[in-house]
Formats: sequence, C-alpha cells, structure tokens
Amino acid sequence: MRKPFVAGNWKMNTDSLTSVGLARAVADSTIDIAGETVDVAILPPFVYMCNVVGALSTSHIAVGGQDVYFEQKGAFTGEISAAMLKDAGCAYVLCGHSERRHVIKETDELINKKVSASISGGLLPILCVGELLDERKANKTGEVVKRQIERGLAGLSEEKMLAVTIAYEPVWAIGTGLNATPEQAQQVHSMIRILVEKLYNKHIAEEMRILYGGSVKADNAKLLMEQADIDGLLVGGASLKADEFIAIIKAAV
Ligand code: 13P
Repeated sequence: MRKPFVAGNWKMNTDSLTSVGLARAVADSTIDIAGETVDVAILPPFVYMCNVVGALSTSHIAVGGQDVYFEQKGAFTGEISAAMLKDAGCAYVLCGHSERRHVIKETDELINKKVSASISGGLLPILCVGELLDERKANKTGEVVKRQIERGLAGLSEEKMLAVTIAYEPVWAIGTGLNATPEQAQQVHSMIRILVEKLYNKHIAEEMRILYGGSVKADNAKLLMEQADIDGLLVGGASLKADEFIAIIKAAV
C-alpha cells in the first residue's frame, strides 16, 4: 500500500518572514495527519531552508531541495551538494523539474547524475518528467516521458531505485491553470509504472510513488488522488497559500 505524498514546491517565492509563517501554518493544521496518513514535504528556496527546517522541527513535515548539484564539494560556484542539503535537514530533492529542463536547459544526462548523487548523499530524489504542449499534440507524450525516465534512471541499481519518487508534470499544465484531467494523468502514471516494472521489477513498480503536478488546487486534488496510479501531488502555486495547501493535503488522505 503506497502512502499518499504531497509536496509543496515554493519555487523562487517567499522571503525569510513569509517562509517561516507559511511553514508553521501548514504544520499547525496538519499535525494529526502529516507523517501519519500522508507524507508531506515543503521545498523552499535554498536560502530559507534552515529557517523552514527550524519552523517544522516539532512537526512531521519533511523538507526538500528544489535542485542539487552532482559533485560532492569543491570549486562549483553557486551550487549546492546533496551532503549540504542533508546537513541542512533535507530528506528530499527535486531532480529535473520542468523549469530546470526548459529554462535552465538541463539535460537528461545531467539530471541522471543528480538523481544518482542525491541517493549516494542520503536524499530521496523526486525525478520530474513531463511533455511540452507540442509534444502532447503530436502524440509524443509516451515517447518523451519514457525517454526522460530511462535516461534519468540510467545505471541506478534496484536498491537505489527504492529511494526514488517520480513526478509526472505535463509542462503545459504547470502554472497555467490547465490541469491534466484525472484520466489523462492516470494514463501516463499507469504507463510509467509499467515502464518501471520492465526496467526493474514488479515489487519496485508497486512500491514506487508517482506524483502528479500541474495546476493542482484544493478543488481538483481529490479527483486526481482517486486515480489508481496517482499516489500524491507536487504542488506549485497553491502551496504558497496556507489554506489551499492544507486543503490539498487533507484531500490526499
Ligand atoms: P503549479 O502547481 O503552479 O502548476 O506548479 C506545478 C509545479 O511545477 C510543481 O513542481
């Protein structure tokens, strides 16, 4: 049985005051369910990580990074290692978020190194995949997602694979208000699970959580979560509003 998992990706938002306030508000209202019936994670900007970890210290809400670099340490100006994230109190990290793929131009090969380095550094990576609108229109969703997963997970052992969560975030649904319908999302999630079974085995495919992301709101969360292969939600904009994010967490239980 896969425990539901809701993660809030704050992206490049909040400040030192609002990050702590938002984290506390979410923790206070989910104290009886977070970590019990639903796993919850907050992914703040790096600079507010320690403040947010402190604000959540009495809760069971996990914290994660929005990105990581694959090297362990050294002369990599501006980058953050898995060990640093772990040291700061992170459990999770996003790898290959669509904004990093399409705005920062990260490749599958780089993302693969990040996934691998995250696990070696003791973090649980959330590998993000998803097609562009043109790719969906050209019926290439399956092909694109398959390539991103095969390349993103290349060389990962079965044991390491147990640490991985996959997030399906169709790029056309991110920040647009256009969420994939529950049926569209389920179709891709099911394909991902079958692919993971082929690449690894049935046990790993059945244990692995697959999150949906892209314009998740309190009013569509429940229908999405009712789908057989949607195990959780990766929330952007709506995770910046305490009431909305709390309602999404409650809808996922
Ligand atoms: P929105 O929920 O704002 O569409 O963002 C989704 C996302 O990119 C989460 O990682």
